Amino acid sequence: MDMATDRILEISGLWAGYDATPILQGVSLSVARGEIVGVIGRNGVGKSTVMRCLIGLLETWRGTITFMDRDVTALPADARARAGFGYIPQGRDVFPQMTVEENLTVGRLIGGPNGKKLPDLVYQYFPRLKERRRQLAGTMSGGEQQQLAIGRALIGSPSLMILDEPSEGVQPSIVQHICEALKSFRDELGTTILFVEQNLDTILAIAERCYIMEKGKITRSLTGEDVNADNVRAQLLL
Ligand SMILES: Nc1ncnc2c1ncn2[C@@H]1O[C@H](COP(=O)(O)OP(=O)(O)OP(=O)(O)O)[C@@H](O)[C@H]1O
Ligand SMILES: [Mg+2]
Repeated sequence: MDMATDRILEISGLWAGYDATPILQGVSLSVARGEIVGVIGRNGVGKSTVMRCLIGLLETWRGTITFMDRDVTALPADARARAGFGYIPQGRDVFPQMTVEENLTVGRLIGGPNGKKLPDLVYQYFPRLKERRRQLAGTMSGGEQQQLAIGRALIGSPSLMILDEPSEGVQPSIVQHICEALKSFRDELGTTILFVEQNLDTILAIAERCYIMEKGKITRSLTGEDVNADNVRAQLLL
């Protein structure tokens, strides 16, 4: 595969932080079209900060973000969403007072012009949501809300789905179902997936490659095979 032409996302030398405090100190990573890539790191190393910069919720101080051969570093978040970013924030963030179906309809509205992906596509991957489509989102379990948050992003037909700790607060059987759904999005819809996790098993379940993040920097880039090699796995267990 020609990585240069097949690259969907490239983050290069990213610096960002809060007030005057730098958190990201030269983060670089890239994702090829159709890849599933994980970023793993302990609490507070800056994983969510990378995601926020990437989708345009936090200003980039230095460095560039290139998406589908376009420099999006200065684009506002809504323009990035229209360009093909789909974001599922840490702790999901569904509208609790709206039903499942209403949440999905909002996803379609904010997802841009592609109106042909109706909730049925989401229900196909997450049948549980169909059963619960009239339930208020705030009354559902953590795992059901996570599926809904992912479904809402899916309705916008993102080229790149960005997930911040999708396994957090979700019971293992549902984590497994979510992992399978993410793989299906890639295999059946061609969605590229970038996600951050502290849970090594979730990374290993679906990521083809992963980056290790420590204190505002990416310190290593590993394939699935590397991670499974004896000593590396022990070092990474968080
Ligand atoms: N809104 C904010 N204002 C000031 N500092 C912040 C803000 N958000 C995060 N930080 C700080 O930035 C650093 C990185 O936070 P970030 O949320 O990116 O870490 P993380 O790797 O996602 O952690 P976790 O695994 O707990 O989600 C932390 O020291 C945190 O306290
Ligand atoms: Mg975080």
